[in-house]
Amino acid sequence: MRIPDDKIQEIRNATDIVEYIGTFVKLKKRGKSYLGLCPFHSEKTPSFNVSPDKGMYYCFGCSRGGDVIKFVMEWEKASYVEAIEILAERAGITIVRTEESDQSASETEKLYSACTFAARSFNKNMMKTEEGAFALKYFQSRGFSDKTITTFGLGYSLRAWDSLVKGAGEEGIKPEYLEKVGLARKRDDGGYYDAFRGRAMFPIFSTTGRVIAFGARKLYDDDSIQGKYINSSETPIYHKSKVLYGIYQAKEAIREKDSVVLVEGYADLISVFQSGTHNVVASSGTALTVEQIQLISRYTKTVIFVYDADSAGVSAMIRGIDLILENNLDVRIAALPEGEDPDSFVKNKGGDAFEEALSKAVTFIDFKASALASEGKFNSPEGKAEAVRTLVQSIAKIKDPLKQTFFIKDVAEKYKLYESALISELEKFTRKVPDRYLSPAAQRDRGKELTAKDAKSAKEATLLEIPLEEKELLSVAFEEPAQMIPFIFTYIHPDEFSHPYTKEIAQLLIDEFDSKGAVDVNHLTTRASKEEVRKLISELSFTPYQLGSRWEKVGARLSETRTSDRAEGAIKRMKKKVLEHELAENQQRMKDASLSGEETVQFLQRHQEIFKSLKEIEKAQLAKPGVNER
Ligand code: CTP
Ligand code: MN
Repeated sequence: MRIPDDKIQEIRNATDIVEYIGTFVKLKKRGKSYLGLCPFHSEKTPSFNVSPDKGMYYCFGCSRGGDVIKFVMEWEKASYVEAIEILAERAGITIVRTEESDQSASETEKLYSACTFAARSFNKNMMKTEEGAFALKYFQSRGFSDKTITTFGLGYSLRAWDSLVKGAGEEGIKPEYLEKVGLARKRDDGGYYDAFRGRAMFPIFSTTGRVIAFGARKLYDDDSIQGKYINSSETPIYHKSKVLYGIYQAKEAIREKDSVVLVEGYADLISVFQSGTHNVVASSGTALTVEQIQLISRYTKTVIFVYDADSAGVSAMIRGIDLILENNLDVRIAALPEGEDPDSFVKNKGGDAFEEALSKAVTFIDFKASALASEGKFNSPEGKAEAVRTLVQSIAKIKDPLKQTFFIKDVAEKYKLYESALISELEKFTRKVPDRYLSPAAQRDRGKELTAKDAKSAKEATLLEIPLEEKELLSVAFEEPAQMIPFIFTYIHPDEFSHPYTKEIAQLLIDEFDSKGAVDVNHLTTRASKEEVRKLISELSFTPYQLGSRWEKVGARLSETRTSDRAEGAIKRMKKKVLEHELAENQQRMKDASLSGEETVQFLQRHQEIFKSLKEIEKAQLAKPGVNER
């Protein structure tokens, strides 16, 4: 899936970064740059800069920045390749991937075209044919408005055996492509026939809004195919486990509300969406997968489950809950009255009632507990023990130890149990979950857990996030090298940078400054060991300093703070982090010791020492160079 570098450059060049970002962010010209309110964090005074010269954007409020591809990745929550595809499509550039021949790149395009064509013709069938009027009535009888029908591109597949195949042929779309996307099947005589006939059609969209598959609902009793719903099979452009129905229409709202409502069915999703809750996606009757959770986590970390209140729905949620917890997301469960699904609920009670149900969503503990209670588990001591153990088992899936503690407390209070008993139960379960059950993001987090202390190899390095204060410190150094480099490196040694990239840049800065008494960014860049480091250097050197003399007037955060104060803040944060880490470790040891009945005095002592050092750092006054008043 590699896209050639010259192609990427071509796409970058074809995109005016100011114009592109300008469609999402209101930008005003300020000197050489453009300035606006940052789309990635909330702020009242603009600190989001776009530089047409550099082809970069950068926010001084939240430190996000990069080129236009990076912007698309952040804004659209897209992968690198997806971001390039989005820009390419916009610029009318065709992407040919190196590992695939020209042939196969356009092959994929043809599959998309086949799907798009089918979606259009299904919709036309419904709106324009007599036979299709029945389907339109069906959707209307389910309460779907015209607008909703358009938003979700709903349609109808005619009962004839060849209507799609024929129609496609007239447009020059070969039946092979329809077959490849699961819309047509081959007959023994070599001819093709339509896979979906006489069904209400729900196009399934990719996150970027391309039609990639269909769900098809039964409309007639004499339908020769059994299932109420049938779906496209797995195809080169449709991987069922990686897709969530409705994500394209919902993604903006998910980001805004910072939560996603998860329902089971197509109809559920559409009804809920129409009733005003837009941050909703559907798993479409499949068990929730790690890939789907990972997709969600690009937009939010909070999932609210609203499945049918039947036993199938409950057990699907119970399975889903653990998977969500394992992947570092938060989960809540909204209950609907017996016998209702989200679709019937919003129809009977309305969108406000649904929102209210969402606001009353309970924690997974309460949900599981009531599921267990309804099985009669709390009626005997044995049952109770088993039930509590099941609860602890789910708590064990949570990665955040602090959250774990709170849930343990919650269970202890509810069932009048000793926390220590629950903790030792918990420890039985905290055996490692194999990596393959985790999303890449969760695997990265695990990587962090394991290697934070001694991340030495470069391979692990890329998996670590660069601490903001380390970036801040370096960017201050780039801003005023003459004053800041001697100051900063009096207090901080390059080895104290926790990330190999910042460590390398710190060393480069010192070397460069020692030999030249100044810093030439281009020279530094050429000496950097790898692309990622080079990228970081350009990001960090993108400072208000270079934005011209009008910088002071723009009111961004940095102009209000002296560089030396920023440096001091960052130095202190770096030092404090080390101590905080030590503090947490010490606390863990103390907990272990007390559980196994060992002596804890030495840990208490150590605790106090570390605590004192922390306070000292907070109070410390570093000898700052008194220049650079802005
Ligand atoms: N489903 C499926 N195949 C089936 C039945 C169900 O793929 N044979 C999926 C569909 O995505 C469906 C979801 O599971 O939307 C939930 O199924 P169910 O509750 O049975 O259907 P509803 O969504 O309630 O369908 P409708 O309201 O259209 O009757
Ligand atoms: Mn239903």
